[in-house]
Amino acid sequence: MRLSDLPYFDALLSLLDDHPVLAQTFGHHVHWGYWETPPVRRPNAVEFAEAAERLMGLVTEAACVGEGMRVLDVGCGFGGTLASLNERYGSMDLRGLNIDLRQLARASRQVLPESGNTLHWVNADACALPYSDESLDAVLAVECIFHFPDRRRFFREAWRVLKPGGRLALSDFLITPWLRPSAWLISRWPKSIGFYGRCDVQFTYARYRQLARESGFSTCLERDITRNTLPTYDFLHALRHQLPYRNPSAAVETLFAEYASRTGLLRYGILGFEKQ
Ligand SMILES: C[S@@+](CC[C@H](N)C(=O)[O-])C[C@H]1O[C@@H](n2cnc3c(N)ncnc32)[C@H](O)[C@@H]1O
Repeated sequence: MRLSDLPYFDALLSLLDDHPVLAQTFGHHVHWGYWETPPVRRPNAVEFAEAAERLMGLVTEAACVGEGMRVLDVGCGFGGTLASLNERYGSMDLRGLNIDLRQLARASRQVLPESGNTLHWVNADACALPYSDESLDAVLAVECIFHFPDRRRFFREAWRVLKPGGRLALSDFLITPWLRPSAWLISRWPKSIGFYGRCDVQFTYARYRQLARESGFSTCLERDITRNTLPTYDFLHALRHQLPYRNPSAAVETLFAEYASRTGLLRYGILGFEKQ
């Protein structure tokens, strides 16, 4: 299995152009949404897209992104995060990196530089960053680190490419000790039929703290937003009925994430780290 084997992206890329509701919700950002308070009814596509934008905003805030910075977004998907930074700030040097060329092709068509910004798209593995030491102000990893071959290598690489005082910020699914046996079992789920591809959801907040210390970062933000992401699952149920796509693995894996999140066993966190 190659690092770029992600069946959910195969499905997305085959459906996006023919299904406006999918393009609206997962054609830019490909991550969960954030709601400050639970909506009174099931979110619609516009509301989900707004919630996905808010979640991304929390990650960029955690990295203290601002005008004129050189920012790398690893696992950049279709470029939604860099598109927002491109709209909001000027004189930025924005870099999107992804293991999957097809996603980069879509990102480069969708996002064009504005306000004196520059944009570069690079096909590479986040655990081997093609940038020189101390060359970046911020590194972002929005809902993608669980796909990387090794979090430790990624942290070492992020530390190397960041300037002193630079920030790494990410969002991730974290487990509580109670979920460990089920998470281990799920990791044995055959990758050949899995919908979300290779996912390592074995990390806890404590392991992140330890990894940060060992890699030379200080942890500056740890924010649990599990509760705020739950309406995502209501939206996904509605979306499933609007698409001509049936995949038992997609249903089983999403239901597992939903059940574990609603019972508090699986957490969703925003984490920020500063290079000391
Ligand atoms: C859930 S998507 C998130 C995409 C994007 N960050 C967003 O929020 O819209 C996970 C992303 O990680 C990318 N990815 C997976 N493994 C990777 C790796 N080893 N190096 C770089 N990107 C990777 C996938 O191709 C995909 O774009």
